[in-house]
Amino acid sequence: MASTDAAVKRAQVLVASNRGPVSYTVDEGGALRARRGGGGLVSGLSAIGSDADSLWVCAALGDGDREAVRRAGGGLLPAEDSGGQRVRMLDIDARVHADAYNGIANSVLWFVHHMLYQTPLEPVFDAEFRRQWASYETYNRAFAEALAEAAADGAAVLVQDYHLCLVPGMLRELRPDLRIGHFSHTPWAPPEYFRLLPDDIREQLMAGMLGADRVAFLTQRWADAFRDCAQAVLESGMPADTRIGVHGLGADGDFLRKRAHEPDVEERMAALREEIGEGRRTIVRVDRTELSKNIVRGLLAYRQLLEDHPEWRERVVHVAFAYPSRQDLAVYRDYTDAVQRVAEEINSAYGTVGWTPVVLHVKDDFARSLAAYRLADVALVNPIRDGMNLVAKEVPVVSDEGCALVLSREAGAYEELGPHAFAVNPYDVLETARALHEALSLPDAERAERSKRLADAATALPPARWFLDQLRALQELQPS
Ligand code: F6P
Repeated sequence: MASTDAAVKRAQVLVASNRGPVSYTVDEGGALRARRGGGGLVSGLSAIGSDADSLWVCAALGDGDREAVRRAGGGLLPAEDSGGQRVRMLDIDARVHADAYNGIANSVLWFVHHMLYQTPLEPVFDAEFRRQWASYETYNRAFAEALAEAAADGAAVLVQDYHLCLVPGMLRELRPDLRIGHFSHTPWAPPEYFRLLPDDIREQLMAGMLGADRVAFLTQRWADAFRDCAQAVLESGMPADTRIGVHGLGADGDFLRKRAHEPDVEERMAALREEIGEGRRTIVRVDRTELSKNIVRGLLAYRQLLEDHPEWRERVVHVAFAYPSRQDLAVYRDYTDAVQRVAEEINSAYGTVGWTPVVLHVKDDFARSLAAYRLADVALVNPIRDGMNLVAKEVPVVSDEGCALVLSREAGAYEELGPHAFAVNPYDVLETARALHEALSLPDAERAERSKRLADAATALPPARWFLDQLRALQELQPS
């Protein structure tokens, strides 16, 4: 691995994640185009300021990223590409990365924590799985080595998510002086489901995670599940000094309210109003098309609503944005097809000359998402299981007239928003249809009142505070 320059070695605060804050494409003339991302980590690291000796270590995800690493000489990326943030992108062998990311992280760990397997046929832990697991170890080791090399004495390292479960343990061996935190952005599986994994893999995952001084989760429920798994896996039980934290991530109210009133959003609103038609209510959902988001059952519930309450026909439109995610995996592509098929079935069964019951878009467009949020009368967020779900928090913040929220009890956001939402079992389409009817039937004043309570709860923990709380908790620990 290429060595880092002297500036990198001084980093006092390090973040490690698979996907970094910037990604690259190469245009036709061979020039690199950088695209900056958003999210809680980006806001958090900006909040600590540029003097804070921070470094973000991430993986190169595509050919553009790999080219950017090559041009950067294997070291830091140009700071202007990432808004001043220092970023070191690791050019891990593409096959190793694909095995670790698609094979293990997305096809095994994501499935375990979201409980997605159709167990009569899967999972199958065979020789191919073991080969991919070896890549997952190699990939985690690349991160651990890069962090060990770049961290100053006693630095705080914040490792993110299921891609990097082994990093804390590996890094602890290389650099016992560091303060290491691990944060899970997903749910954590209950012990009965975690037991699907081979014994040695469960032990390795736990040993990796518990190499951290502190592991943290988005809700108490996921933190409790982790503790239960650790007790079940470890012969000696959970180490007495393990700290488990809970940090709920809220919506960035100031940013969203401002961004949602920019001209491109106004333009998208005009176009959406055309598609929806005059005077109709809207049920809005916006998701990355992940298997856990439950978009198909959401459509089935909407169809049930039109069956049970024909008075809503012509008077409501389901605006559903299902943006592509993890398209290297066939099961994700098939799921996107199923979403499109069911939406088309509803439109051909119920649609009329002037009314399209489902307006479905699958091309990612943030400005259009904000436009839909502003127009929403009802937000539908019905995941099978979700670490938090920020859409549930963002829609009420942005909605112009106030919106009601139909929310799955299995979303992490339910812990904070549940009292102000219409709660549903995500598998029960009849109950979801009833909840949609109740939400649509709310008098305007009550809907606006509920929306305000939702927005207050949703913005209680803005992203910068979410990050700074974790950092402070880690820095206050005595070095082990
Ligand atoms: O949304 C949950 C999450 O686990 C995030 O923490 C993480 O950034 C993302 O999913 C990973 O998605 P992708 O596979 O597109 O990088």
